[in-house]
Amino acid sequence: MPLLDPSLIFPVTHPDGRVSRTTLYLKNVIDHPRMDIGDYSYFTHYGKLAETAEILAPYLFEGSRERLIIGKFVQIARGSYFITSSANHPMAGITTYPFRIFKPETFGYNDLPTKDTIVGSDVWIGHDAVIMPGVQIGAGAIVAAASVVTRNVPAYAVVGGNPASIIRMRYPDTIIAELLELAWWDWPIEKIEANLPALESGDLDALRRA
Ligand SMILES: CC(C)(COP(=O)(O)OP(=O)(O)OC[C@H]1O[C@@H](n2cnc3c(N)ncnc32)[C@H](O)[C@@H]1OP(=O)(O)O)[C@@H](O)C(=O)NCCC(=O)NCCS
Repeated sequence: MPLLDPSLIFPVTHPDGRVSRTTLYLKNVIDHPRMDIGDYSYFTHYGKLAETAEILAPYLFEGSRERLIIGKFVQIARGSYFITSSANHPMAGITTYPFRIFKPETFGYNDLPTKDTIVGSDVWIGHDAVIMPGVQIGAGAIVAAASVVTRNVPAYAVVGGNPASIIRMRYPDTIIAELLELAWWDWPIEKIEANLPALESGDLDALRRA
């Protein structure tokens, strides 16, 4: 069996040979100075390929100060997107109208607070989720469909709702610490694939020996 190939744009080929053109390895599609995306992280959308970056993060501009950092093996379902810091209008005064952007001489809001959005590895973001500015999602977390994530999400938490709150933790704290130490997503792909039965079944003993 060939190994997963992180250099592909369209990584899903159906058993009948049909290549899915809606599921993309983001790293090979997006060339954006404010985005860092790890290998094997995919996004499904039905828009134009060239519009992937703006579908994923509509307010992250080339000149934005914040970054969107996405780890490895992140799974982002259709309809989900990131609202990053550059989406914010000034709120300290009386009006929120962004007067400055309508004149080239004043364009920009470099005095507004900005924060990176960070998604850890092996995070699953369900359909139609919205991730708000500056949120950090820990590795192994699950974001339920149609959630609006406004606060940081701990590693291996399942969160859902608007605003998203913790539905449950996937593992006890001690196991989570061990999984973060193990960081299987940083293993060579040969080792990952050789240990898929243990990864898929949750056989931690086998992973400890791997
Ligand atoms: C998050 C999810 C994985 C939960 O799975 P689960 O652990 O089996 O959870 P359950 O269905 O047992 O529900 C547990 C609780 O979470 C709540 N919940 C489930 N999905 C929710 C959602 N999208 N938003 C808010 N709450 C949700 C349930 O109502 C339940 O609450 P209760 O305990 O008060 O009754 C699943 O609901 C989900 O959203 N999957 C995403 C599917 C998707 O978007 N796929 C796109 C293609 S990849």
